[in-house]
Amino acid sequence: MGIVACGETLGAGDRPWAIMSECLLGWGPRILRSTTIAGNWKMHKTQAEAKAFLQAFAPLWQPQAGVDVVLCAPFTALAMLSGAIAATGLPVSLGAQNVHWAETGAFTGEIAPGMLVELGIRYVVVGHSERRQFFGETDATVNQRVRAAQAHGLTPILCVGETKVLRAQGQVESWIFDQLDRALADTTALPVIAYEPIWAIGTGDTCAPTEANRVLQSIRHHLGDRGAEATLLYGGSVKGNNIAEILTQPEIDGVLVGGASLDPEEFAQIANAAQP
Ligand code: PGA
Repeated sequence: MGIVACGETLGAGDRPWAIMSECLLGWGPRILRSTTIAGNWKMHKTQAEAKAFLQAFAPLWQPQAGVDVVLCAPFTALAMLSGAIAATGLPVSLGAQNVHWAETGAFTGEIAPGMLVELGIRYVVVGHSERRQFFGETDATVNQRVRAAQAHGLTPILCVGETKVLRAQGQVESWIFDQLDRALADTTALPVIAYEPIWAIGTGDTCAPTEANRVLQSIRHHLGDRGAEATLLYGGSVKGNNIAEILTQPEIDGVLVGGASLDPEEFAQIANAAQP
């Protein structure tokens, strides 16, 4: 999988090779179509538990240039994790699990993009099916969150996926393409896109890797010219014992991992299975 670009507009005085080397080291601007292993902790881990995770994970993980490993932690753990990563130099990226589109304002319970940027956060999960299902997230609000994140230099991990009923009705592609078209309206850059069939999330019912590959291929095709550069992930019951087979699929650039990312040993196993 080659490096297509760094997703960065260079200005006068910028050093393209410095940016490229940051990319190769796994730091700095995102490499398009890069191998990305993201853990979504959801509503798990206090600061103390997050710290214990990092301490256990660090010696087990073998970081590789070109493999971006991301921890999407609860908001309350992000500042601590950011400080710990800066202090230890561990080349892990941080992600949040949501972001609002306004700069500031009367939006109780929401987080502004600038608040994440201040902490050195690079990624943000947007449009996860749990947000859509339990918290009224719509394609329109997903689109606003994607655009605001990108405007602040954050890389959204945009989640799309169908229910079992839609799959049985043969509506996988039409559903996902609608979700994508609405979420990506008026965007100039592509987010990372995670195909997460809802029936496979937290159920142990992993989508067959060849089927996930087929859906991701159709997503890539649907994205047109931009598809070749898109980083496309699979998510849904990814575990240490199925990661190898998932990552052999040519259209799967990485994974978004829920339950198995909570355990440092299993998440290290998953991260170590990835190739640039
Ligand atoms: P899971 O969750 O790995 O526990 O199925 C995936 C996700 O929701 O991102």
